[in-house]
Amino acid sequence: MKGSERIRTDVLVVGSGIAGLSFALKAARYADVLVATKKERVESNTNYAQGGVAAVFDPGDSPDLHLSDTLVAGAGLCHLRAVEELVREGPERIRELIAWGVEFTRDEDRFALGREAGHSRRRILHAADLTGREIERALLAAVAAESRIRVLEDHVVWSLQTAHDPDSQRSRCSGALVLDVHGGSWIQVDARAVVLAAGGCAYLYRHTTNPAIATGDGIAMGYAAGAAVANLEFVQFHPTALFPAESRAQLISEAVRGEGAILRRLDGSTFMEDYHPAASLAPRDIVARAIDAEMKASGDPHVLLDLSTIPAERVAERFPYIRGVCLEEGIDIPADPIPVVPAAHYQCGGLLTDWDGRTSLAGLFAAGEIACTGVHGANRLASNSLLEAVVFSHRAAQRLRRDLVELTPLAEQEVPIPKIAQAGQDSNEVEGRIRSLMWEDVGIVRSDERLESARAELDRLSESPIARDGTGPGAFRARQIEFMRDVATLIVRSAQRRRESRGLHYTQSHPYRDNERFLRDTVLVR
Ligand code: SIN
Repeated sequence: MKGSERIRTDVLVVGSGIAGLSFALKAARYADVLVATKKERVESNTNYAQGGVAAVFDPGDSPDLHLSDTLVAGAGLCHLRAVEELVREGPERIRELIAWGVEFTRDEDRFALGREAGHSRRRILHAADLTGREIERALLAAVAAESRIRVLEDHVVWSLQTAHDPDSQRSRCSGALVLDVHGGSWIQVDARAVVLAAGGCAYLYRHTTNPAIATGDGIAMGYAAGAAVANLEFVQFHPTALFPAESRAQLISEAVRGEGAILRRLDGSTFMEDYHPAASLAPRDIVARAIDAEMKASGDPHVLLDLSTIPAERVAERFPYIRGVCLEEGIDIPADPIPVVPAAHYQCGGLLTDWDGRTSLAGLFAAGEIACTGVHGANRLASNSLLEAVVFSHRAAQRLRRDLVELTPLAEQEVPIPKIAQAGQDSNEVEGRIRSLMWEDVGIVRSDERLESARAELDRLSESPIARDGTGPGAFRARQIEFMRDVATLIVRSAQRRRESRGLHYTQSHPYRDNERFLRDTVLVR
C-alpha cells in the first residue's frame, strides 16, 4: 500500500444518501464539509427507495394521527419525544427537499398521496415508484453547486480515530483513517466532528432488497470507537421482494398493496385475513411472518401478489419502474400475478443518538438508517425512514453549529497505517457463511438454539483474519467482511438479550411480549 496524506476539515460526513447529503448541505452554511463514500456518490440505499416519504399534507390528516400510527407500529419501544419531533417537523423538511429541486408526483395542484401498511391516512409523498432516485438526483445537484462541500468517491472509512480532549477531559472522535480504494493510498482526515450517515446492514442477509454496500460499516466502526448501539435485533423484512430473490432482490413496493393488490397462495386462495383484520395491508412484520409461515406449511417457494384489482392505466402511471422490472422477467402486470418472498430490508436499531443526532461518543454524530433515534421502536412504519433522515440530519446540523465552538481542533496525532495480512480466510466464503447463517438462524423466526448456533459460528469466523490481496480493492473487500462479521455478532448478541417476542423480533423460545422485563431498549457498549 502507498503512503498517507493528511486532510484537515471541520466536518467529515461518511455516506452520500439522503441523511449525509442533506446534513452536508446544511452544515456547509457554517463549516467546511468533506463527504467520503465508498462507491460512486449516487450508490446509496436512498437511491433504491421506491415507496416514498410519509408526512402530513392532507387536510384530513394530522400530526397526532401520524404519531399514533408510528407508535402502534413501534410496539411500545418508540421514544415519544423523537416521534413528536418527526411528525411535527416533517412537513417543513419536505418543503426544503422541494426547494432543493425534488419533484414529487402531483395530482393537479396537490401532492398525490399514497397509502402503505399501518398508515390510517394517505400520506406517502412519492415520485412515481422511484422516489429515492429523484431525491438523490436533486440533492447531488445541490451539493455540486456548493463550494464548501468536497466529495470523495471510492474512499472507504477504515476506522474512526479518537483522542483525549484536554478541555472536556474526555475522549472525542477526532477524524478517521480513509483508504482511497483505487489509488491504494491512505488519508488521515482530522475533523472537528464526524457524522456517520453510512446506512444500514440488510446485506448481511442472503435475501435482501438492499444493494451490496449495505454492510453496516458505520455501525461496526462507531461501536469499535466507543459509541453505544441500540435495538439491533429489530431487522425489518419486507414482505414482497420479487422471487427469486438472490443477492439484491427487486423490491415490490408496499404502495402496490396500498393501491389494492392482494396476496394469494399459489392455488389462488387468500390467506392474510387469517392473520390480521387489515389482511394484505397488515403491518409489515405480520405480513412477512404470515408469508413465511405459509411457505413453510405448503413447501411453496413463494406466494403471489395479485394486482388485477388495480386498473391497468393506474398501474402504468403509478408503478412504471416495477412494471418494467416485471416485464423483463416475463410478468405482465396487472394481468399476471407477481411471485414474491420476504427479504431483509431495514435496520431499525443502530448507533444510539439523542434528539440532535449525537452519539454517546463526543464529536460523533449519526443520521439516517445507521442511527437509533427512537423513532422506529421495535418496528418501523413504512416510509418513515426518509422522513427520519431529513428531520434528524437537520437537527444534527443545527446542533453541530452550536457544538462546533467547543469542538476545537485537537493536536494532530499519528495513526498507524494498518498492517495488511495476506493470509487468512477466503472473503467470499466468509461472506457466504455470514449471509446464510443470518438468514437461517437470525431471520424472521428465531429461537434460543438458532441464535446460539449463529453466535458460535460467528465466534469461529472471528478466530482468524480475512485474507487480503494487498491492493486497495482487495483490502477494502476484506475490511468490509470484517465489518459484516462484527455487526452480525452485535445483532445476535442483541437478539439473545431480548427473551421475548416484540415487533420485528420473533422467537419461538419466548413467543410472547414481556412488558415487565423488556419494555426497554437493548443497548450495547464496547
Ligand atoms: C416500499 O416501497 O415498500 C418501501 C417503503 C419503506 O420501506 O418504507
